[in-house]
Amino acid sequence: MFPFNENLSVNDDNHLCLDGVDLVELAEEFGTPLFVFSEETIRRRAEEVAAAFGRENVYYASKANSNISVLKLIRSLGLNVEVSSEGELFAALKAGFKPEQIIFNGAAKTLRELQAAAELGLHCVNLDSVCELERLRRVARERGVEVNVAFRVSSGVVAGTHASFETAASLSKFGVTLEEAVEVYREALKGDGVNPIGVHCHIASQVPRVEVFEEGAYRVSRTVKIVEDTLGFKLSEFDMGGGIPVTYAKEPINGLPEYFYARIKPREVAERVRRVLDEVLGDIRLIAEPGRYVVGDSAVLLTQVQNVKKKGKDFWVMIDAGFNVLLDAFSYKWYFHMVSASRAGEEHNHPYMVGGPLCDGGDILLAGGQHRMLPRDLKVGEYLALLDAGAYTLEQMSQFNGRPRPAALIVSKGKVKLIRRRESLEDLVRNDCYDET
Ligand SMILES: Cc1ncc(COP(=O)(O)O)c(C=O)c1O
Repeated sequence: MFPFNENLSVNDDNHLCLDGVDLVELAEEFGTPLFVFSEETIRRRAEEVAAAFGRENVYYASKANSNISVLKLIRSLGLNVEVSSEGELFAALKAGFKPEQIIFNGAAKTLRELQAAAELGLHCVNLDSVCELERLRRVARERGVEVNVAFRVSSGVVAGTHASFETAASLSKFGVTLEEAVEVYREALKGDGVNPIGVHCHIASQVPRVEVFEEGAYRVSRTVKIVEDTLGFKLSEFDMGGGIPVTYAKEPINGLPEYFYARIKPREVAERVRRVLDEVLGDIRLIAEPGRYVVGDSAVLLTQVQNVKKKGKDFWVMIDAGFNVLLDAFSYKWYFHMVSASRAGEEHNHPYMVGGPLCDGGDILLAGGQHRMLPRDLKVGEYLALLDAGAYTLEQMSQFNGRPRPAALIVSKGKVKLIRRRESLEDLVRNDCYDET
């Protein structure tokens, strides 16, 4: 049912509203492209994952959105945070997270990152290999500290999501195989600066079916049992990673993969995985690192129509947001549902090809390779909205084609706050080094 998301509505002017705030008015005031977040939605999603896993067991995956205001909001709700780079660690600390609230992931951690993790005393460093274990051990020894570690173990489960999001498949670049687990933990148990406390087994992002989480938990927990029995020790943490999906597709669209329709609640995931762990391992802390689910449906991206034409048999509409703003729409053919913000209450029954502003033939925002359904007779100056644009968007924006990165706002109890400034033309060349003459 339009307007699809519970934070959206249509007002008497026929304008799309987010938490009751007129989005057309915001677009006029702040310009486009423009991200608008709903604080209420982030709170609601954070509470859902907290209720499902236990607040202290949730480490929000900041790669989904590491805007400082968003991180501060999430911290204020009592969640912990997961980072996978020095930059995300920097943002998390700036947002006020304590080192012991932070888990560090990544398949190619730099020496500086390992040093920072050891010096700060993070909750846990999830290791990708024995090579990384040795590097961290050296760093820890030099500093006279002991670092909590877990190994990332690939369950071999294929989630059925976009191929690039499959990280547990046996050919993926991440972690070690189930068969290698005993040997890597044997190495870690030698201690000497590292303390193995857990196992990490993120499967994929935008996982379409709850059974995937269950199967991954089975495979990895059985392996953990073997590791524990063989080596005679006990792990205290099972970190399942993220992957809880957002329902991007609002209506049936030919050619759109199943994972865009995924509809799984955090509680279902937590209950199923918990049941497996109880059966196989008994008492072990279950940790989750949800990113997309916490912020995905909290934001819309507003964009303005810049050009309309009929070319051959197609109606085209050109907008001011392309893959400079929504990289996933290009690289993964990611689907973001699109509606008119200016005429939100009108029938969306006219087929349009939609193009972004970039000088690149791939800069088009189709629906499963097909037309978008929008109100008839779109005009230059009207505003459109792309829904569920809160995750993996701000993080991936670029300045390609000489386009400053857009601003972001958050609606908080009816008030609007700027959480990211729009870049200027000067920002485009700020880091260029050149002779003034
Ligand atoms: C290790 C790890 N944890 C958590 C996440 C978050 O996943 P999602 O945003 O799908 O919840 C990812 C995303 O790829 C990840 O690689």
